Formats: sequence, structure tokens, C-alpha cells
Amino acid sequence: MIVRTTADGVEVLAPAKLNLFLEILGRRADGYHDLESLMVTVDLFDTLTFADDPSGQITLRCDDASLPTGPENLVVKAAESLRIAAGCRRGAVIELRKSIPAQAGLAGGSSDAAATLTALDLLWNLETPPGLLDALAGRLGSDVAFFRHGPSAVCRGRGEVVEPFPLPGPLTFVLVCPPFGVGTADVYRRLTPPETPRPIGPFLEALASGETRMLGTHLFNRLQPIAESLCPALQKVGDALASVGFHLDGHLMSGSGSAFFGLAPDPDAAQAAATRLATLGLGRVRVVTSRP
Ligand code: C5P
Repeated sequence: MIVRTTADGVEVLAPAKLNLFLEILGRRADGYHDLESLMVTVDLFDTLTFADDPSGQITLRCDDASLPTGPENLVVKAAESLRIAAGCRRGAVIELRKSIPAQAGLAGGSSDAAATLTALDLLWNLETPPGLLDALAGRLGSDVAFFRHGPSAVCRGRGEVVEPFPLPGPLTFVLVCPPFGVGTADVYRRLTPPETPRPIGPFLEALASGETRMLGTHLFNRLQPIAESLCPALQKVGDALASVGFHLDGHLMSGSGSAFFGLAPDPDAAQAAATRLATLGLGRVRVVTSRP
């Protein structure tokens, strides 16, 4: 995330994430799943601004009228959890401008929540210990803690145990966001964890090599076939990315979908693939980059 202080408070650019590898290790007693995933942030951002409100109210305004702005919103939950943990009674007016689509597997809501913890800690001069902010993040959602440690990390547990894994160089992707979303819980409900999970080691070696052609052959997402059976229209997106294979080194669905990405050898190839894909009417197409 990119954080800056302004005359009015704090502004944060909250990035989207992609899962380049996602394996499920097993189902847990609490109903969640243990997983192993390599996640990267990309330069598709929601923008949040935070201004102090001496009245003590937490107010969220959002430019996307379809999103709730009450206590059920993860941004408001993050603000309240920080206030309780820090024993703080300050308020804030939070403006959220959405660019990251919802239910896309890009974790926009989780990134917004992580941004909120970091920004309000700064705005309210709380100096909360980083370990406590990580713990609050982990309780808010499985992907929230990652955004406090991006830009690239191996995530374990239910996603909240984050081990940074530096990229050897920038990676460029073409991102396709279909005009419909997929419910994460719906996908996990249909999942049967594999008896022999795929080890992440060979993927990490390919990532560390910086060879996109090799990396492309190691992209993996255990949730993809389940999301595709739940939502057959997704197969068309994968097929379209395969059909521009000449420009791309591999492609994959992110998280529990619905967004897909193609891994490009360089920015020109990504742009060529994006131009071609944009004519197919599959959804919004963008070139995005992950930087070390
Ligand atoms: O933690 P988060 O709210 O993002 O998870 C959404 C849903 O996805 C959970 O309610 C759960 O059904 C499923 N999930 C899971 N195992 C994980 C992460 C998410 O079963 N590791």
C-alpha cells in the first residue's frame, strides 16, 4: 500500500492482489481451510482518505452505491477494532473510491481494511505495535494481513500467516475482470481438499529464477476448477487467455475468482494481449504490474 499524509489527514492507495500459486492443505475444525499461497500486489488501487472527526463518529462514504457503508463494511470493522484495541475514542471521516471489483478474487475489501488499520493508527498517533495490527488484520479476514506486508509473500494458515518472498524483478500481467463475481464461501463449500497437496517449492524456485516462461508453467490454483464448475462462464475467460498464448507465458484465475490474469514476458506483450482480449467482450481488461 502507498501511504501519504496530507493537509487534511492521510491518503492511502490500497492495491489489489493476485494469487500466483494457491494450494489447499486441509479443512480445519473452525470451518476454514489451511492453505499455502504466493500472493503479489499489483498497481490497481482503491483510494482511501481519512480525516479526523472530533465528534468520535466513524463515517464511511463510498463512490460505489452498491457497497454497504455501515458496520458490516470491512473498513468500518477495521476502524472499530483498532479503536477497541487501542482504547481510543477518536472518530474519522473515511472516503473510499473503488477501482478494484468486488467478488473478483482480488481482495479489494481486505486491502481497504488493511489500509484503514495503517492509516488510522497514523492519523490518531496511536503507535500500535505492528504485531497487534497484524493480529487485528488476521481477525478481520484471511487476506487482510498480507497487505500489511506486501508486495509479495507466501501466505499460510488460513492466509493470515505472512512470510515475505521478494520478487527478483517486476512482473507484468494482463488482468481480465468479468462483469460478474464469485462468492468465496460458495467455492470453499464445494472443495474437497487434495489427499496429496502440491508442494510450493518448485513454484518458488521458478519465481526466484525470474524466468517468466518457467514461472508460467508453475502457476497453480486449486480453487479454479471448482469456481469454473460453479460458474461455467469462467471457462470462456480461461479459453480466451489460452487463445492469446502467443503473447503470454501462462494464465490463471486469482483466488476464488472471478478475475483471471495472464503472465506476460514483458509490458509490450501484455499490451498486445490486452488489445486482443478487449475485443472479446469478456469484461474489463487492464495491464497491471507487480514490483519488488
Ligand atoms: O476470511 P474471509 O472472510 O476472507 O473468508 C471468506 C470465506 O472463505 C470464509 O467464510 C470461508 O468460508 C472461506 N475460507 C476458507 N478458508 C480460508 C479462507 C477463506 O474456508 N483459508
